[in-house]
Amino acid sequence: MARGKGILAADESDASAGKRLAMVHLPNNPENRQDFRELLFTAPSIEDYISGVILYDSTIRTGTDDGIPFPDVLIAKGIIPGIKVDLGTMDLHGFKGELVTQGLDNLSERFAEYYDFGARFAKWRAVITIDDDELPTDEAIEMNAVILARYAQIAQEAGIVPMVEPEVLFAGDHSITKAELVTTKTLQILFHNLQKYRVDLSGLILKSSMVLAGDMHNEQSTPEEIANATLRTFHMSVPHEVGGIVFLSGGQTPKRSVENLNAIAKLGEQPWPITFSYSRALEEPVLMTWQGKPENISKAQEILLYASRMNSLASLGEYDTKKDSKLN
Ligand code: 13P
Repeated sequence: MARGKGILAADESDASAGKRLAMVHLPNNPENRQDFRELLFTAPSIEDYISGVILYDSTIRTGTDDGIPFPDVLIAKGIIPGIKVDLGTMDLHGFKGELVTQGLDNLSERFAEYYDFGARFAKWRAVITIDDDELPTDEAIEMNAVILARYAQIAQEAGIVPMVEPEVLFAGDHSITKAELVTTKTLQILFHNLQKYRVDLSGLILKSSMVLAGDMHNEQSTPEEIANATLRTFHMSVPHEVGGIVFLSGGQTPKRSVENLNAIAKLGEQPWPITFSYSRALEEPVLMTWQGKPENISKAQEILLYASRMNSLASLGEYDTKKDSKLN
């Protein structure tokens, strides 16, 4: 949670990494996944704007072409390696359209191994879906919250900082008011369970969605409205001891993500440090520039540095959209 820095989420599962590579027509094989991660992690000076990188199981076990393990590449730059430990979602039986996250089995043993690889924080993503008046159900929120609390306990027992991510999906045609109600309720239930199960909130990071209208909704809000709704939500639900709050980009464009973060930071100091932890909003411009071609690597790394610097400025409320001609 270093001031002016954010966290890169490079923790796509192998299947999700394939979706990213498909955007530039690259096959989803270990070589392309490794090349892309190597490009990201070796980008010169990213440590000026990035304090942590979340890795995936197969990535933490891989390294550069020269054989340096990826966690060691990051540690040498002063960047803290993190690890995604959930094993994805499955249908919540009996609750049509709702999901529960898997991966608690053997988690202590997995944490011990990841700790040896150098991981010092971890991420677990739960998914909350909004659909008109029906979803989410209280039961789906509660089930995911209890599982997030158990994961956070096991992480802290292993000496690893848990990042808890109840992602309220942006997909849909709900209003910003609905998103605010659902996010507030989700976070209230989550923190109730984290406290009930005695998780140390000072050693925990919340990874949250920004509060936005659904992507299909006819009325989209301004960054100022989004900033106000998002901070109102946090003040209604997040205890002040929490170590920090980071945002996922959730399918927003790089431009919207940076503008909204800036508007949030412009509202002034909050009880928690707040910054970005994006995957798509940082990686997409890099992929588009790289296109899988070795001759584009340095240009692609420059774009990563640029996008990270813009978001670093935004985390301080100092981003100027008029001066930024590169993020769309
Ligand atoms: P996006 O920024 O692409 O939403 O990803 C962040 C993340 O960690 C999702 O789990």
